[in-house]
Amino acid sequence: MSNSPIGIFDSGVGGTSIWREIHKRLPSEHTIYLADSKNAPYGPKGKEKIIDLSVKNTELLLKKGCKMIVVACNTATTNAIRHLRKNYDVPFIGIEPAIKPAALQTKSGTIGILATKGTLSSELFHKTSDLYANGVQIIEQVGEGLVPLIENGKIESPEMEKLLKLYLTPMLHANIDYLVLGCSHYPYLIPKLQSFLPKHVKIIDSGIAVARQTEAILAKHDLSTQEETRGNCIFYSNGNPEILQHILKHDFSVEALDF
Ligand code: SIN
Repeated sequence: MSNSPIGIFDSGVGGTSIWREIHKRLPSEHTIYLADSKNAPYGPKGKEKIIDLSVKNTELLLKKGCKMIVVACNTATTNAIRHLRKNYDVPFIGIEPAIKPAALQTKSGTIGILATKGTLSSELFHKTSDLYANGVQIIEQVGEGLVPLIENGKIESPEMEKLLKLYLTPMLHANIDYLVLGCSHYPYLIPKLQSFLPKHVKIIDSGIAVARQTEAILAKHDLSTQEETRGNCIFYSNGNPEILQHILKHDFSVEALDF
């Protein structure tokens, strides 16, 4: 079992930002990544639909023999991880917006969060914010339209420029000094965000923390691989495999799969 793959799923290509950190930290682990691009974006969907999609992805990864599942999608984590943990025996790791480190480090007392509607309206997000960001002002912004542009390979486009300007300008007027990326697709926007934001505004995402947590949970359940060679990394997409291929810079191949 310990040499079985880690399964990772997302509503599309964005969760590869999480996969990258896991692969960097645990290079000997085999991984299987599912890009459910056909159903992207998850953000505007209702909770029941997000749970159904998460169950479908989980069952496919379990059929492929995965020993643990990383839900590399904030919207699926906040809406479905409790259901998954209750119904399946393998360990699940989710991603939550990095509100805590931003709230601990802010000097202006105001932080911004860019995430999907599904994440920002979830109970888990509100609980985390109340717990860790007491006394800190949080400017919440739904990043509507960003995921479809990323999924369609339009990071460098006038539409993207327009949306980022629209979403970030009010945060800058509110004097944020930290911007939390609450969606696993958004790390692919970091160069664009950096060109828009003043230097003192720091950007935080959850990738490194998730990789650290993955290592700890594998060790806790005695599931760390015993192999020392580089792990196999398999990628499946039910959307346009070319876009995932482009994101992976052709270092790994992508298989088209209808799921
Ligand atoms: C989405 O599919 O709308 C975004 C995924 C995420 O929340 O990470």
